[in-house]
Amino acid sequence: MLRRICRGRPALATALLALVVFLLVQLRNAGINDGSDDFHYGSPASGQAGGCPPGLDYLKSLRLADKILFSRRRIKPVVSKAINRDEVLNISVPLFPKKQAIDLSSCASTVLEPGDTLQLKVPPLYPKRTYPEFIFGIATSADRLRDSIGPLSYWLSGSSAKLVAIISERQPATADQLQDLRHLFATQDIDAVILNPTDKSLTTSQNHFAMIRDMVRLSTPSTKWLGILDDDTFFPSLHPLAAELALHDPDKPQYIGALSEDFRAVKNWGYMAFGGAGVFLSLPAATTISAHLEECLAGSTSSQGDGILRDCVHRHTRARLTQVQGLHQQDMHGDASGFFEAGMRPLSLHHWKSWYRHPVDEMALVTRFCGECFLQRWRFGGDTVLTNGYSIAVYPGGLDAIDLGKTEETWGESGGAFEFSLGPLREKLPRGAKRSHTLVHSAEVSPGTVRQVYVLKGNSRDHEPDEVVELLWDFT
Ligand SMILES: *[C@@H]1O[C@H](CO)[C@@H](O)[C@H](O)[C@H]1NC(C)=O
Repeated sequence: MLRRICRGRPALATALLALVVFLLVQLRNAGINDGSDDFHYGSPASGQAGGCPPGLDYLKSLRLADKILFSRRRIKPVVSKAINRDEVLNISVPLFPKKQAIDLSSCASTVLEPGDTLQLKVPPLYPKRTYPEFIFGIATSADRLRDSIGPLSYWLSGSSAKLVAIISERQPATADQLQDLRHLFATQDIDAVILNPTDKSLTTSQNHFAMIRDMVRLSTPSTKWLGILDDDTFFPSLHPLAAELALHDPDKPQYIGALSEDFRAVKNWGYMAFGGAGVFLSLPAATTISAHLEECLAGSTSSQGDGILRDCVHRHTRARLTQVQGLHQQDMHGDASGFFEAGMRPLSLHHWKSWYRHPVDEMALVTRFCGECFLQRWRFGGDTVLTNGYSIAVYPGGLDAIDLGKTEETWGESGGAFEFSLGPLREKLPRGAKRSHTLVHSAEVSPGTVRQVYVLKGNSRDHEPDEVVELLWDFT
């Protein structure tokens, strides 16, 4: 929730934002890429006339340097109920034995190495089911809603869960604009109800709370849970989320969520379910809140949706916050790699298009084929760790001195503010001590075959090649 940092010290936040934008522009102009994870993809690379063999064609859309080092591994997943998903499994062979130098500007005659096959043990896939027990709600602008369609459809399409989206702008959306958005969601097989706010005077943050009344009104006999979300809340899969919520009685008033991982944010904003992680109300709790909506809007100490909701829950229901592990507000700016590489099984992710930038839907794609294998880790030889869907990290100094049981605090020193949530922590490694290939692209290229592409950007000033690792998972 980007708006949150703007409150309190707007002048400072604006100045900082301006500085960051300025520095980014400078970096881009200088053609420097420091190998951070914040690179974009999707626009064609320059000067690639020669045409590549079909197996490499997709690389052109990834905005790589012309010169790349390419390696490919085929992975045959072996489903095993016996493995401990949270253990880092040791594989004695190296992950990439061969690297092939390829020039993407003249690769017509390149003959690709086929890539050796490796067996990796993975957990079973989640059983197929639908999720009519959920109504999710977001309040956002039309543009941001459109922007989020990829990640939203990743977890909502065909799920039978309902989405209520309130378009919160200065001017109400026109009938045509609403119709366009409804059509967009319908084509993605999402049961979406897209509405203007009932009360035009409310801010987006207030709408974030006030939409609960629309959600209650639109509930069906199957509805058990209302999920109050930010427009950048992402679920790798609804299956473990539904399984977690099924542990709680939906016929009682329930208020379920997570604190921020950053204790400073908890001190600042208070004890509550932070909105970006996803807040879940049982229908009885939501119905009570809906009945007191105006009163709660007028009487809250908070201008933020999640704060108003917390106050309203406390004043009018007997529900108290039930914290659920795995829901993540992700209050970490910049390099989030330590979070993703810690072996976690997140139920939700957040801030993926602002505080850090990752293609979360492509990252999580393997979840459809091997469930909890998303972010599962394997150690190859003495120096390489694959975190499935996130990165392949090579530690030039070896792994002996690195405790993979601790979370690397890559987003910057916080004085221990993340210890209560993500600890034990270890310090960010110095530059060069971890060479990360980060997932930039993933797709199901044929039924049951998933391609993941991990890239380590070379320093373009020194004409270093980009290093590209392709993993082909064969789930057939
Ligand atoms: C993998 O190897 C490391 C280092 O030798 C060891 O500490 C760890 O226990 C091993 N993990 C498993 C699951 O065997």
